[in-house]
Amino acid sequence: MDRVIEPARRLRGTVAVAGDKSISHRAAILNALAEGDAEVRNFLPGEDCRSTLAVLRALGVQSSLGEEDGAPLLRISGRGLDGLREPAAVLDCGNSGTTMRLLCGVLAGQPFHSVLDGDASLRARPMRRIVEPLRQMGARVDGRDDGALAPLAVRGGGLHGVRYRLPVASAQTKSAILLAALFADAETVVEEPQPTRDHSERMLAAMGAQIGREGPAIRLTPGARLTPLSMRIPNDISAAAFWMVAAAIHPDAELRLTGVGVNPTRSGIIDVLRQMGADLAIEEEREVGGEPVADIVVRSSRLSGVEVGGAVIPRLIDEVPALAVAAAFAEGTTVVRDAQELRVKESDRIATVASQLAAMGAVISEHDDGIVIEGARRLRGARVASHGDHRLAMALAVAALSADGQTRLSDAEVVAISYPDFWSCLQRLSSTDGGG
Ligand code: S3P
Repeated sequence: MDRVIEPARRLRGTVAVAGDKSISHRAAILNALAEGDAEVRNFLPGEDCRSTLAVLRALGVQSSLGEEDGAPLLRISGRGLDGLREPAAVLDCGNSGTTMRLLCGVLAGQPFHSVLDGDASLRARPMRRIVEPLRQMGARVDGRDDGALAPLAVRGGGLHGVRYRLPVASAQTKSAILLAALFADAETVVEEPQPTRDHSERMLAAMGAQIGREGPAIRLTPGARLTPLSMRIPNDISAAAFWMVAAAIHPDAELRLTGVGVNPTRSGIIDVLRQMGADLAIEEEREVGGEPVADIVVRSSRLSGVEVGGAVIPRLIDEVPALAVAAAFAEGTTVVRDAQELRVKESDRIATVASQLAAMGAVISEHDDGIVIEGARRLRGARVASHGDHRLAMALAVAALSADGQTRLSDAEVVAISYPDFWSCLQRLSSTDGGG
């Protein structure tokens, strides 16, 4: 589906973006392994999280995703650590790396056979990073190219505790190992090169797992049963980031983003936008579902270029497409480096962000591990493509709101992976020349 985006005359309003994708996946998976029923409010009804629910259903976990007072509500019945059953068919993870990697960790602990598969994008994403440690723990996991690529076949059970240092900073890999560690015969220690999102650790602790952190190492001792955790999912900072950038780059904007998760392992985009000079206020800080949450108010800003690399990268890895748009409208040069992980996301985001923003007139160059953007060029509406990547689609839409002339985005429905209401929200917040 093509979508035509007109420049916005003004951006105004309050928006509660969708529930956090990472936390929604974990709430489903961990509650599936708990003993009893849980209710998860504001669960993200996006396609990725629906893939997780479908795979869990194939493993015998009952759940229903409905609504209460107009907000999503997941009811899920945990089967305990030993209650999953062998699936009758291949488990389809769709476009979702989190579904495949985290559930591969769970399946590594199950004494049965299962096969995880996904769409063309997921089949091209690196899986050796989880296969290697799960094999070290004693699981039999195989896939194309000696386990580098899905489909992955798993025959689990009989796992040993390990000490494992992650070669790349990856919360999905860390979480896969911690999930497998629940089924091991002794403690597991995972060490990360840089801190990555810690939602799994927070939720495991809240459910009664024996888990703790010592510096860069996370230690999990198996044996504890998991207690179901009814919770409310914070709104997704990775979705909110698109509106933060939309408001900052637009000359007549003020947007209030309510209930956004501001976990320090996720909030790099706030720090970097502020460094660029964004008029961004954090209000009403509070805690929701064991996670820090706040309202974020962003107004039209004069942005300057910035250099971004090192430890902040895992804290904003999913926000780089949005950041590249901010950089195109900023004064001066922006350099993003140490971000080679972007090459193995839903698309090669270094290549796709560079080519699509260039089509809109941005001066942007691609490097092995990042991008360089010369700012302060007016972007123009153009024909652009999402490359099947939900975050690229939303970044281009935000650029289009501040560009000259109309933009036509192909494959625009892909936003439903993580933010099903994105287009209706865009419509509501923006007044266009045509629409008044
Ligand atoms: C995620 C971790 C990140 C992120 C992805 C979601 C998670 O990936 O890019 O969108 O939920 O754990 P990596 O763990 O591969 O860095």
